[in-house]
Amino acid sequence: MESIDDIRSQFEFTDQDQENLKLLGDILLPLSDQFAGEFYEFLKQHRKTAAYFKTDEAVARRKETFKAWFNDLFTSQFDNRYLLRLQKIGKVHVEIKLESYHVNAAMSFVREQCRRQVVAQIKDGILKEEILISLHRALDINLSIMTSSYQEEKLKKVFVSYKAEEQLIRMAKRLLHGLNLFLTIGLLVLGVGVVVMLGHDIYKAVTTNLEYGVIRALGSLLVLWMMIELLHTEIDHLQGGKFHVRIFVELALVAFIRKIFVASFEHKEPTSFMLLMGALLILGIVYFLVAKVEGRDTGRP
Ligand code: HEM
Repeated sequence: MESIDDIRSQFEFTDQDQENLKLLGDILLPLSDQFAGEFYEFLKQHRKTAAYFKTDEAVARRKETFKAWFNDLFTSQFDNRYLLRLQKIGKVHVEIKLESYHVNAAMSFVREQCRRQVVAQIKDGILKEEILISLHRALDINLSIMTSSYQEEKLKKVFVSYKAEEQLIRMAKRLLHGLNLFLTIGLLVLGVGVVVMLGHDIYKAVTTNLEYGVIRALGSLLVLWMMIELLHTEIDHLQGGKFHVRIFVELALVAFIRKIFVASFEHKEPTSFMLLMGALLILGIVYFLVAKVEGRDTGRP
């Protein structure tokens, strides 16, 4: 919030205005009771504002608080203490959930009541104009400070929701990082599994059918190669790199190639062999499209 000096200078409120307010007070303060009554009548006319004054006590308090503010308007020095008092009024209005346009409308009503009295009582044209300018400045300052509480309240809400959002995003990022680490560990374990599988295939090649074993081992080698690629991509991703969908299609391709290697030795009937070849072709097309989208060179090994 700005200081009272900033506000005074912004509204061009001078020491002369402060003096003029005293003169205004001489004219208007004797009418305080009447003004307070009319102010209350104005609030009573509208359903939303009338709802605040259901008891006699509330009505009496309303008139008293109005008179206190009205008296302050003409007798107080426009200094920082006055600024604090106006801010407090603004906060009370925000707390009772009074909408700001009611305050604007009420101030407009008060302004008109005061103007009418000034016009009726001051005959000197130049003085009248000067006094009216001071009145407008004083009321504008009052309105501006009182309604600034609404702005502050809104900012507070935005700030709170912004903080909550930030917290949520930070938590989600941490969780994501944790899951990625978990995935990396899983890939490492699987990599070890593929190495074991490769060893087993080599062992089988040596001890039983060499040709069949070598082909199986070749398939396992392909899978191991893909596991290394996957791990590489995952580590790259963990370090902030881009994620490539292509890698999963490559993995599926390799798995199918391995299956075809093995199937060629298992003497499968032609239909299942053809199905495997068909699936491989479809995967090839998918790989081509994904690589194209990702701007990759499809001719890469
Ligand atoms: C020119 C505009 C207004 C002025 C100058 C004004 C002034 C004040 C003041 C001085 C207070 C006492 C704050 C405190 O406890 O320190 C107050 C409170 C309150 N105002 Fe206003 N007010 C205005 C507009 C309104 C409007 C439009 C309503 C509509 C219902 C309203 C309803 C209330 C209520 C319910 C309270 C709290 C209870 C009370 O002490 O009466 N005010 N206002």
